[in-house]
Amino acid sequence: MSIETRELHPGLAAEASRADLSAPLTEAAIAAIQTAIDAFPVLVFRGQHLTDQQLHDFAARFGPLEIGRSAARPGRRRLAIPQIGDISNLDEDNRVRALDDRRRLDSLGNRLWHTDASYMPVPVVLGLLHAVALPPPGPFGNGETEFADMRAAYDALPPDTRQAIDPLIAEHDVFWSRAQIGFTDFPAGEREQYPPSRQRLVRRHPATGRKSLYLSAHASHIAGWPVADGRLLLLDLTAHATQTRFVYRHTWRRGDLVIWDNRWTMHRGRPHDESQPRDLRRATTLDTRPSLEEPP
Ligand code: OGA
Ligand code: MN
Repeated sequence: MSIETRELHPGLAAEASRADLSAPLTEAAIAAIQTAIDAFPVLVFRGQHLTDQQLHDFAARFGPLEIGRSAARPGRRRLAIPQIGDISNLDEDNRVRALDDRRRLDSLGNRLWHTDASYMPVPVVLGLLHAVALPPPGPFGNGETEFADMRAAYDALPPDTRQAIDPLIAEHDVFWSRAQIGFTDFPAGEREQYPPSRQRLVRRHPATGRKSLYLSAHASHIAGWPVADGRLLLLDLTAHATQTRFVYRHTWRRGDLVIWDNRWTMHRGRPHDESQPRDLRRATTLDTRPSLEEPP
C-alpha cells in the first residue's frame, strides 16, 4: 500500500488516500504511514469504521499502547479494551453525562491546548482518534479538534529566544491543567499515582534533527525558576504557538481516524452541544524513554 497525501495545512496536516485500516496491513504499509506522519504530524483517514479491537490492533503496529488515567481507575467502564480511551460524554450505560458529572468535568481539560500525558515520566507519541458518533453544531462550537504545529512555532521564534529556551525543563502536572478549569475533585489516591514529571521544553526529532516546542496545559512552571516567571513564559510561548497560522482545525465526520504525533503538536477539543452524544475512541502509543534522556 502506498500512501498519497493531500495537504490540509502546510507542513502540519494532510489527508491520506483511501485505505482500509480494518484489515491487517503489511510492514511496508505501516512504514509508509509512519513516513507520512513524519512529514505531516496530523494525518487524516476518512471513511474508516473500526471496532475497538480493530483500532487497537492497527494502533499497536506503531508501538506499545498506553492505558490512560481514566481506564486505569477501578470500577465499571463503557469500553471493554483498557487501551482504548473513551473520549466521549457518555457514561457506562451510554447515557449523556450530566453537566456536573465528575468524569465529564475532568475530561473538559481536553479543551485546553495540550499534548497528551506529558505529566507521565515516559510520555506518549501517537494519538489515534476515531469518530463513532458526533453531535450537531452548537452555539459555542461543533466539537472540532484543533492541532497546532510546534515545529513551525519553534522555528518562528527569534534566534535569541530559541537559544534561551533550548536548555529549559518544564514541570508537567495533570492536577495543574485541571486546576486551570477549576476542577480539583480527583478520586482518592490519584494525586499520589500521577506525580508531576519533568520534560524538555524543546525536543528534537530523532531522525530529522528538527526542533519543536514541547508545551502542554499540564506544564506548570520551569524547573529552577520562580513559579510565576516560568508560568508567564509558558503562557507567552503557548499564545505564540497557537496563533491561527500554526493551527489546523479538524471538522469531524463519522468514520474519520486522525493520527497525530504528540511530540510535534498540541491539540484541543472545541465545545459542542452537550445534550447530544459525542463518541470518539482513542489509542495512544508510548514513547520508549523520558524526554530528559533524549540527546539535546
Ligand atoms: C484527546 C483529546 C480532543 C477532542 O483525545 O486526546 O484531547 O476533540 N481530544 O476530543
Ligand atoms: Mn488530548
